[in-house]
Order: sequence, then structure tokens, then C-alpha cells
Amino acid sequence: MGIMAGTTARLATGKIIEKFSITNDIKKLRIYHPETAKSALPGQFVNIRTSGSNTPLLRRPFSINLVHRKQGWFDILFRVIGRGTVALAQFESGAEVDFIGPLGNSFSFPEKKETAILVAGGLGIAPLEFLGQIFSERNISAHLFWGNQTQAPFVYQENFSQKKIRTSLATDDGSFGFHGNVIQLIEKELSHFSSDKIRVYACGPNPMLRALKNFTRGKNIACEASLETMMACGFGVCMGCNVAKADNAGYFYVCQDGPVFDLKDIRIHG
Ligand SMILES: Cc1cc2nc3c(=O)[nH]c(=O)nc-3n(C[C@H](O)[C@H](O)[C@H](O)COP(=O)(O)OP(=O)(O)OC[C@H]3O[C@@H](n4cnc5c(N)ncnc54)[C@H](O)[C@@H]3O)c2cc1C
Ligand code: FES
Repeated sequence: MGIMAGTTARLATGKIIEKFSITNDIKKLRIYHPETAKSALPGQFVNIRTSGSNTPLLRRPFSINLVHRKQGWFDILFRVIGRGTVALAQFESGAEVDFIGPLGNSFSFPEKKETAILVAGGLGIAPLEFLGQIFSERNISAHLFWGNQTQAPFVYQENFSQKKIRTSLATDDGSFGFHGNVIQLIEKELSHFSSDKIRVYACGPNPMLRALKNFTRGKNIACEASLETMMACGFGVCMGCNVAKADNAGYFYVCQDGPVFDLKDIRIHG
């Protein structure tokens, strides 16, 4: 089954019902909005107005990280890196959040008998947690490979153990798990899997996606990735979120055509 398109996006106001500090600079907001919780698909994102003032003027995109369809909430998980995320980190329980969503397409489901391999670089874990949640609910076998620069973000790892998703972890500095990057870890461990039964789902920085593309090339491994380009308008007008097509025949726009793409269809820069 291929990547799924289609959006039921709308301008909405949600209410923050819980705020979590995962580390000093990684935060999670739980937003009550039953319609979004009910309709969101893994891979989709919301475009959030991060402050009540005009600074920053543009909304910021965040993957839907987890949903609770019955309780009516969804989570976003983010790193505080600039004006928008600094402002968002000030939001407390009870605050209202103005967002557009759910936006974009979504990841596919594995074919019968395929094992899902989730590959996350840093906070690329955000959309993959939602995907893992759905796989777990549907008894789809999944294995997470997750790499971070240091040990700190792994306090979050128990969320995956609870979902019975096997995990293999790597750190660039060797402070936890495998010493090296997540693609080196996959190269080491993936020989245990039969390649015709694997479907890879990835999200992370461009160098990771490029290494993954090189690794899967010629191996007949299906591989989809959620891209995190810079966005301005978020709905196909500014052309700011372009990504080159692999066949050099122009560009895709991440906000409209993605954010999930088949890795073989795109060129990865950076
Ligand atoms: C579809 C989609 C889903 C996303 N999901 C998440 C998520 O779940 N969690 C999360 O933490 N982030 C996510 N991002 C990235 C997030 O939108 C940016 O981190 C955010 O816009 C930064 O805003 P800011 O105002 O804090 O930083 P800015 O002040 O705009 O930028 C600060 C610094 O970060 C760099 N930067 C900004 N945006 C990006 C980006 N998209 N990719 C790489 N570098 C960037 C800038 O070049 C600058 O150096 C997602 C992006 C997209 C397109
Ligand atoms: S963000 Fe403007 S076209 Fe995609």
C-alpha cells in the first residue's frame, strides 16, 4: 500500500491540557482537540501560531506525535531552537493554541508479512511514535532504530517499550547504546532481517536520510521518509518548502505533496 494522501485540514483552536519537559530543551504539549485526535493519520502535521503577537509572524509546523482518539487529545514533541519554539515552550496548561491541521499526507501500512523498521534521527522520533502506536494497536511487527547525539533524549525511550516495539539505540558520542550513527547501527543489525520482508519508515536530518537512501539503494527495500524542510505559508503558495525530484523533473512541495515521500522519488541535499 503506498503513501496516503488527503487532508481534512481546518483552522482550529485547541487547549493545552498537559505540558511535559523531556529534557531542558525538549518539550511536549498535549492539546485537547477531539476532531484532530479523531481524524489525524501518522505522518501528518499541524501548523501552529506560536505566539499571540506578530513575532514570529509565520506559523511553525510540528508532526503529530501521539493521539488519544477517545480522550480527544494529540501531542506535539519539539526542540526549543529559535523564536517560534521558544515562544511555544512558554505555553502552560490551560492555554489556547491556534493551529491549522491535520495537514499533509501520511505513512503507508506494511504489506502482509512485512516487518516495519522505524528509523529516527533525533526528534525525527516525533511522527514515528504515532506510527508505532498505530502499528502496536494493529499488531504489526515493528522495530525502532533511534540515534541521538547524546544519551539525554533516551529518557523518552520507555514510551516505545510500553508499546512492545523492539528498540536499538545509538549515540554519536557513545554515551548510550551503539557508538556511532543510526545508519551504521542498521548496517550492523539489519542482516538479521530478510530484506524482502522489510518496509522502512524514517524521519531525521538530511545527512541521515541521504545515508539511508544510499544504504537501501539496490536492495529492494521500500523506504518512506517524512521531511522537515523550512516552511513559510504551509499551504502551497510561497514555494519555500521545495525538494527536488530524483528524476530532475522539477520539485515537490513538502507542505502539499508530503511531508512523507518515497525516498527513491526525491533528491536529498544538505
Ligand atoms: C512537516 C514538519 C514537521 C515537523 N515536526 C517537528 C516536530 O515534530 N518537532 C520538532 O521539534 N520540529 C519539527 N519540525 C521542525 C520545526 O518546524 C522547526 O524546528 C521550527 O519551525 C523551528 O522554529 P523556530 O522559530 O523555533 O526556529 P527558527 O528561529 O525559525 O530557526 C532556528 C534555527 O533552526 C533552523 N531550523 C528551523 N526550522 C528548521 C527545520 N524545519 N529543519 C531544520 N532546521 C530548521 C533554522 O535554520 C535556524 O538555524 C517539523 C518541520 C516540518 C516541515
Ligand atoms: S510552505 Fe509555502 S509552499 Fe510549502
